[in-house]
Amino acid sequence: MTVRPHRTIHLAAHFPGVNSTTVWADPRSRSQIAFSSFERLARTAERGLFDFFFLAEGLRLREHKGRIHDLDVVGRPESLTVLNALAAVTERIGLAATVNATFNEPYELARRLATLDHLSGGRAAWNVVTSSDAFTGENFRRGGYLDRADRYTRAAEFVAVARELWDSWTPDGLSRPFAHRGQHFDIAGEFTVPRSLQGHPVVIQAGDSGEGREFAAQAADVIFTRHGTLEDGRAFYADVKGRLAKYGRSADDLKIMPGVTVVLGDTAAEAQERAAEIRRQQVSPQNAILALEQIWGTDLSSYDPDGPFPDTDPVPDASITQGRNRHGDPVATAEKWRALSREKGLSIRQTVIEASGRQSFIGTPEAVAAELETFVRQDAADGFVLVPHLTPGGLDEFVDRVVPLLQERGAFRTEYRGTTLRSHLGLPDPAEKG
Ligand SMILES: Cc1cc2nc3c(=O)[nH]c(=O)nc-3n(C[C@H](O)[C@H](O)[C@H](O)COP(=O)(O)O)c2cc1C
Repeated sequence: MTVRPHRTIHLAAHFPGVNSTTVWADPRSRSQIAFSSFERLARTAERGLFDFFFLAEGLRLREHKGRIHDLDVVGRPESLTVLNALAAVTERIGLAATVNATFNEPYELARRLATLDHLSGGRAAWNVVTSSDAFTGENFRRGGYLDRADRYTRAAEFVAVARELWDSWTPDGLSRPFAHRGQHFDIAGEFTVPRSLQGHPVVIQAGDSGEGREFAAQAADVIFTRHGTLEDGRAFYADVKGRLAKYGRSADDLKIMPGVTVVLGDTAAEAQERAAEIRRQQVSPQNAILALEQIWGTDLSSYDPDGPFPDTDPVPDASITQGRNRHGDPVATAEKWRALSREKGLSIRQTVIEASGRQSFIGTPEAVAAELETFVRQDAADGFVLVPHLTPGGLDEFVDRVVPLLQERGAFRTEYRGTTLRSHLGLPDPAEKG
């Protein structure tokens, strides 16, 4: 195994939003929609000198058995609006918005991102997501909207057009007319926003298919991924970095940042205990059955979450949950979960807890700092998107206890050197295209 010499770690903060991460039962949990929550988490991340603060997006509330999914009942504000407000109460941290390339138009979105880049002094980023499902499409113009096969051709053209627009003003403030004729967009005119402070907002990609990885290799500055374990991370890292050369790019041009959680304790045993308790709170008995129903495609409310799995196979095309569903092939997942339960003697709920966790770093602050550094030195990641289980105080402990240790190890910055997100990430300014 090659171990690279010292490299610094990139860190980002994910606002947990609507998902099974948040522990609602914790008395410290606050609103997920009030500005005070966004502000608090973003300021903590900035105190910790993080590269960026990250907001996910959902364009339709998921439905389960015909009702709004329990985990979505708090709703979701629009990311760019929140980040524009955060630009006023933060100074250095990058502000990353997840915005769908399927349900938006390039001129409008490029304008909004360039505006955030101006308001924030060069700290904007766009996480390009590509969901094209018909259920979300119903909230927009024409139902089914886009064939799955077309989602990345549209996304790639979308990003290319946005960059043409951002390049249509020179650094000395001259606007030039643009014209773009392509498969998905046919637009011409003049862009309304002058060139931004970092040239272009940073482009992030989240999506895992071969087409998604290819798109990232060609067009993204950062990948947000779920491949967070050492082995899986190394394979993903090698695959994606291996795709860069054919686009004339080098390994440092694309940063790979898996979403991970951190649970700390004064001893290893205490941290393990806390992590187990958090997982139990995240996967309540009802949520365990709900997770199963998503896979089996049928009502399983009569099953005991502390009991064994159903013997019947899932009905693959019955869509009991409408909206984003991350379980892939239901029959294969059911088989995997049943096997896990048999092998370890686990109940339904215990299996869901074990099978649905994301990569976690669990231990003393010293052990976690060392492990994070190991992942980066061994090419499993360039950094991490930390996903706290509490809103908005969930990063306090990491910033107070782990960041200083990373700094002592020389693995993390001790101050922001530049002012733009590009400078935090060590990315070059995009060359101006004449
Ligand atoms: C780590 C990660 C985070 C994602 N976050 C979002 C999100 O916030 N909003 C969204 O609409 N889609 C999100 N997606 C979905 C992707 O944009 C994409 O639609 C999905 O992964 C299918 O594309 P693929 O086949 O290339 O994986 C995310 C995907 C990944 C892997």
